[in-house]
Amino acid sequence: MDVESSPKKVHAAIREARRRGLTIGCVPTMGALHAGHVSLVQRARSENDFVVATIFVNPTQFGPTEDFSRYPRTLDTDLEFCRGAGADLVFTPQVADMYAAHAETIVRVTGLSMVLEGAHRPGHFDGVTTVVTKLFQITEPDRAYFGQKDYQQQLIIRRMVQDLNIPVTIVTCPIIREADGLAMSSRNRYLSPEERGIAAEIFQALQLADRLAVGSAVSPREIAERMRAHLEGTGGLSVQYAVVADSQTLASQETRIGGGSGVALIAAKLGTTRLIDNQILNYSVAE
Ligand code: PAF
Repeated sequence: MDVESSPKKVHAAIREARRRGLTIGCVPTMGALHAGHVSLVQRARSENDFVVATIFVNPTQFGPTEDFSRYPRTLDTDLEFCRGAGADLVFTPQVADMYAAHAETIVRVTGLSMVLEGAHRPGHFDGVTTVVTKLFQITEPDRAYFGQKDYQQQLIIRRMVQDLNIPVTIVTCPIIREADGLAMSSRNRYLSPEERGIAAEIFQALQLADRLAVGSAVSPREIAERMRAHLEGTGGLSVQYAVVADSQTLASQETRIGGGSGVALIAAKLGTTRLIDNQILNYSVAE
């Protein structure tokens, strides 16, 4: 496995792989890798001839009061994870490799970027879509792999590649969970032991939503209220949103509209740690 920080050298390596007729799979990450990331690299390995993982803590997607400076940086273990999962190349740029001092261009997906995460983290998705576009320019993948954990992110990236005619297939991979259901996240390591005990209630709220979707005719609006009540009944969690939305537009879903599906999305803070999670809801019965 090669490790390279220069965008030019990575681009050249990818071009060489393409010249040899290989298909390219890309797994963009910010490092602090866990089993969720490993599952993305493994999936990329199984579907492509050449796998490039990227590790870059992207400053432009963090707000001024967010955790950019303390975001965990664990390069040595990250590289071991990448090697174990079968990556061929790991791209590890520095900030100066990715952003020229006077860069003036951003990529913005309007609409989808403004709600939910975008409303709570202004500018966040501009940073994500800009850096992902740059990573796609450098690695020119046939397929790129993202976790369902960041549901809105993968939706926005799908919109972006469609709108900008970027020839890459976006593959969304299932959420990987701890034994008690907590979605794996690089930020889980911020949790104190007491907070860690409470954190799995987010999954419990999503399970409740799933049960109500499958086993009752309760409306999406009421499912959202029940999730919020569950979370607020758990001391320590500060709910930012608990909603049921259309799985493509993220518009709030009020009724089941004759069956179909939706997505339950939660963001909550535990102390200083912000956690997000989601669950696709398949309505078995119309209201
Ligand atoms: O999901 C992440 O880790 C980041 O948002 C991404 C897609 C690597 C862009 O920095």
